[in-house]
Amino acid sequence: MQEVEDALEDAIQSEAAFVTEAARHLMHAGGKRFRPLLVLLAAETGDPAGDGVVTSACVVELTHLASLYHDDVMDEAALRRGAESANARWDNLVAILTGDFLFSKSSELTARLGADAVRIQAETFTRLVEGQILETLGPGEDEEPLAHYLRVVAGKTGSLIATSARYGARFSGAPLEVEEALTAYGERVGTAFQLSDDILDIASESDESGKTPGTDLREGVPTLPVLIARQSSDPADARLLELLAADLTDDALHAEALDLLRKHPAMDEARAYVIERANEARELLKVLPEGPVRDALDAFAAIIATRTS
Ligand code: IPE
Ligand code: IPE
Ligand code: MG
Ligand code: MG
Repeated sequence: MQEVEDALEDAIQSEAAFVTEAARHLMHAGGKRFRPLLVLLAAETGDPAGDGVVTSACVVELTHLASLYHDDVMDEAALRRGAESANARWDNLVAILTGDFLFSKSSELTARLGADAVRIQAETFTRLVEGQILETLGPGEDEEPLAHYLRVVAGKTGSLIATSARYGARFSGAPLEVEEALTAYGERVGTAFQLSDDILDIASESDESGKTPGTDLREGVPTLPVLIARQSSDPADARLLELLAADLTDDALHAEALDLLRKHPAMDEARAYVIERANEARELLKVLPEGPVRDALDAFAAIIATRTS
């Protein structure tokens, strides 16, 4: 991971000193490095010193970081990784251009990994961007809201986490069967990860998450707990359902909705759903021999269900 950090630092050097500063801002603010860590863990299924392992770990973190700069513009978020978001600290223009710069740098590094990696990266990026766009557009007329949400989640988050696991297997020279199983594992891990992020958006305080709680509610993005709560016909839920249908940019209404939702059984139902997805991911590890690598990947998926930040 230290090698990845060093490579990330090199990658954000720009001819324009201000761009380096704007990119360094969130790079240094923290972050779990979940995706590069998955690349390195998956690379333990082959030769972890293989060519391209560290570079591909750097690629997925840069792609992720770029998407955070853009996501905070889309979500009008003020806080990221416990720091001011780039759009809040500077403005939307700086956040968008810094995101673009990070995507370009990620593409430069991908080019070193060969044509096939360029194709995988492009397809991954298409899915991520389409996920973000579909979230903004909302479900189509005949589309079920839960199905739409799951499609969004798979695109905006499952795609890059699946590719992280794939890169680790691929660039460590693991057998194709392992690469395919780990890609499917990463897709489910990524879905569970986003679903747990959406639960944390409601349940956690910003000193834990480094983000402003209730951003999805404020932006009118219905996530799993909201979609579950909306199915309730219990008269005791009337006020919550009324609020969920309202404009929650008003601070008092937003606080009331957040409070009601935090106490609602939909939260535990959503948590149970995350555990199911994480367990599906863990099942896919059976192609690997028993031992510490499989155990670590198993723990990596299991922890998503209980994480608090
Ligand atoms: C945040 O991702 C955006 C999602 C896809 C949920 P992370 O939770 O991995 O963010 P950092 O990198 O740790 O800040
Ligand atoms: C982020 O989704 C997904 C991407 C950046 C691609 P969210 O908007 O739900 O994530 P947070 O909560 O801001 O990290
Ligand atoms: Mg967001
Ligand atoms: Mg978003």
